[in-house]
Amino acid sequence: MPTLETTVNGIKFPNPFVIGSGPPGTNARVICRSFSDGWGGSSAKTVSLDASKVINVAPRYGRLKDANGEPYGWENIELISTMSFDQWLDEFKEVKDKYPDHVLIASIMEEYNKDAWYEIIERCEGAGVDMFECNFSCPHGLPERKMGAAMGQDYDILAEVCGWVADAATIPVWAKMTPNVTHIEDPSRAALNAGIHGISAINTIRSVIGVDLETLRPMPTVEGYSTPGGYSCKAVKPIALRMTMEIAVLIRDHYPGATLSGIGGIETGEDAAEFILLGADTVQVCTGVMKHGYKLVQTMSEQLLAFMEKHGFETIDDFKGKALPYFTSHSDLVARQAKAKADAAAAKEAAKAKKGITQDEAWDGDEFVKQSDELAGN
Ligand SMILES: Cc1cc2nc3c(=O)[nH]c(=O)nc-3n(C[C@H](O)[C@H](O)[C@H](O)COP(=O)(O)O)c2cc1C
Repeated sequence: MPTLETTVNGIKFPNPFVIGSGPPGTNARVICRSFSDGWGGSSAKTVSLDASKVINVAPRYGRLKDANGEPYGWENIELISTMSFDQWLDEFKEVKDKYPDHVLIASIMEEYNKDAWYEIIERCEGAGVDMFECNFSCPHGLPERKMGAAMGQDYDILAEVCGWVADAATIPVWAKMTPNVTHIEDPSRAALNAGIHGISAINTIRSVIGVDLETLRPMPTVEGYSTPGGYSCKAVKPIALRMTMEIAVLIRDHYPGATLSGIGGIETGEDAAEFILLGADTVQVCTGVMKHGYKLVQTMSEQLLAFMEKHGFETIDDFKGKALPYFTSHSDLVARQAKAKADAAAAKEAAKAKKGITQDEAWDGDEFVKQSDELAGN
């Protein structure tokens, strides 16, 4: 019987399903609910020391739907948590008191200020969280304060901040990366070189969900105006898979022991299997929970276990990264295909030669004696 239990960065997860930072992990009540429904871990909504600077607007979501009305693309212009840091510390304690065996990850974000990062880390650790996820990736609002993606896109600042974090934290830390860069390996390398233990990716993709053709205003429209936001949901999965693969290759080749949490458009156990096959240790789900509710984890677990049983995998590690060796360059694909065709033609010829002539049209003047010999039994 396969097991979903897995150990990542030395921490035991009841299963690899983690709530992605956002509304589904926005206070102790909903985090506890996610754990009671079966999620292995939760990356709580991102916190900062001074929530009074965080002011949300409404509407702040915009969605693209398929023919059945199901959202497949989701833009948000939501900021990090509006709950005060002191209250968050109480909520972290409450979650750990009630669910000591589930993994509580504090998602943290601060300005470019060493003391602030040391303070947020020390106080969250004091509240009993199991791990940190540094949000270097929120693409809207916070970059105006040089936080989030603004930090994740400046690799010198990123390396410096990751160095502070690695120095201050006594528990494992993941750095959550923005996909809004040319090469996801660059920020990942900066974070891992600085001593961060794992990478999570991806956060949302900077986007404009659409323009209202009645009002001629961009969406989501707030008092007639809008601002680019972050795109998530099923539509981003192929991009997230590609970045998962690229980070996994980097980790495999240069940072053995570092871990990877795959995020982006995951809604089924099969989606999760794909991310794990490309090298993820855990998977995170945010928009999927907003669409389907917390019980989604139960279907996902059944689907992932069924996949494992079908292939005879006992643990997550048995198939982690199994698809990775099969990425190569396009020119290598061309060479492989040419060789496969040549091999197939040669095999056909060999088979034909071995069997001898079966159709009269195949007799040939120059090969006549050879063909006669081939048909002889002695
Ligand atoms: C409404 C909303 C709010 C989010 N807030 C945060 C946040 O506070 N911190 C963070 O690191 N990521 C945040 N995210 C990003 C998600 O955690 C995740 O990285 C992204 O949405 C892709 O995964 P998904 O397709 O499963 O949602 C948010 C996403 C959404 C949709």
